[in-house]
Amino acid sequence: MFHQTIVVLDFGSQFTQLIARRLRELSVYSEILPFNTPIAEIRARNPVGIVLSGGPRSVSEASAPRCETAVFDAGVPVLGICYGMQLMTDALGGEVAPAPHREYGHATIRIQQDAPILASVGPELRVWASHGDFVKAAPSGFSVTATSANAPVAAMADEDRRFYALLFHPEVAHTDRGTEILRNFAFDICGCTGDWTMASFVDESVGRIRRQVGDGRVVCGLSGGVDSTVAAILIHKAIGDRLTCIFVDNGVMRLDEASQIRQRFERLHLPLVFADASSLFLDRLAGVTDPEKKRKIIGAAFIEVFEAEAKKLAERQGSFDFLAQGTLYPDVIESVSVIGPSHVIKSHHNVGGLPERMHFKLVEPLRQLFKDEVRAVGKEMGLDDEFVWRQPFPGPGLAVRILGEVSPARLDLVRHADAIVSEEVKKAGWYRRLWQSFAVLLPVQSVGVMGDERTYEYTVAIRAVESKDGMTADWARLPHELLASISSRIVNEVRGINRVVFDISSKPPSTIEWE
Ligand code: XMP
Repeated sequence: MFHQTIVVLDFGSQFTQLIARRLRELSVYSEILPFNTPIAEIRARNPVGIVLSGGPRSVSEASAPRCETAVFDAGVPVLGICYGMQLMTDALGGEVAPAPHREYGHATIRIQQDAPILASVGPELRVWASHGDFVKAAPSGFSVTATSANAPVAAMADEDRRFYALLFHPEVAHTDRGTEILRNFAFDICGCTGDWTMASFVDESVGRIRRQVGDGRVVCGLSGGVDSTVAAILIHKAIGDRLTCIFVDNGVMRLDEASQIRQRFERLHLPLVFADASSLFLDRLAGVTDPEKKRKIIGAAFIEVFEAEAKKLAERQGSFDFLAQGTLYPDVIESVSVIGPSHVIKSHHNVGGLPERMHFKLVEPLRQLFKDEVRAVGKEMGLDDEFVWRQPFPGPGLAVRILGEVSPARLDLVRHADAIVSEEVKKAGWYRRLWQSFAVLLPVQSVGVMGDERTYEYTVAIRAVESKDGMTADWARLPHELLASISSRIVNEVRGINRVVFDISSKPPSTIEWE
């Protein structure tokens, strides 16, 4: 059950999670801990290596974030990246100073031939740098292993103590062969063997669920998305039919989605209660135009239906002890503020406050995983590519993609337009490249002409964005041919729509959804 672990201490860089993801892609288990984690807690993980992440501060500031100096006495290799390098330099007696020429963006480094983690990618490498400070003098014991035009020490190493430092970011895609550098550190220097695989995760996870649940019973609220589905499959593998899943059809899912969920669960032999509550949801949504009201109505109706179904089940089969959730690793990483002393802990997302209301204990088998790992586990457990790579879909569904009132007729329009967008985007090979692509029904009617007749019908907006996490997004430069086929199919096939427009707004200032 023990995996060789590399601990990443987080000094606030926007790339910290990427370091852990890259290592895990190399089959090396990696955990992110706040920079000020006590050394005893770090040691408790028995790490084979420690990475000090980048960060937005300068080590010369009195309040700059620092790790315990005992990190350098832990007896394991340490890799400092950017701020991590500067901290290492400062902590071990070298000199950090404001760089005369700051480096932001691409830089080229020249690598010494005998540099251990860099030799395989030399002698010259294009890297991504982002720093205002630089290392003026390496601490004693270190030798300079790479230089750049603006940095006399672009990388350094102390082979005896196994300390390594890079002024640039090997974890970002803009650094050529950055993953190879991390591989050299993990495998050659820390001695990793690559024992973190999704197959091993599945076995261990099943064991863990069995130990946690004992002979108890679990109920799982299925959203229809990848996370809750993969969580359900793992739990079912562990405890069989002591798991029951509840899917609430809220009437605002995509075309055929509810029936696909049903079929998928039948195929996987997972016990499913399919609660068709679409009329209840649509009745409550009737006449409502305010987006936040729509969200509240849908959230409250979900809890109501879910509780009623769970109660019925409990009466028939005995009560449930646990609620399953598809919480992922990014939701549980403790984020520390490097700006002030206060600790900010991200709120853990859950199914609309259900655990608190129903006094459930939680089973969260995906707490250790990044999204790409959940997809890999899903594949491992027999889910098809198409499902595993589905774009995110908001909880309130199409209700927030119909501006104005949600009615069965309008749902029908947006559903069919949305299905056409998906089909065409997939056909053109753009689907996975896009964070989301969908149709929005506008409450705008305009004049058109079809055949010999004048029409006065609705407008659909096409939204397609590229994004890493949904926090920021850029509108996608879809090829004109793709836009043309989407537009002509929607206008021809969806009666009631006579105009298609393309949304060219980025987030910020515009959000991804229109409501
Ligand atoms: P926005 O529109 O805020 O969306 O730029 C960012 C991401 O969040 C999704 N989204 C939601 N997801 N409930 C959800 O579960 C919601 O109410 C909700 N609103 C937006 C959106 O699809 C995008 O991926």
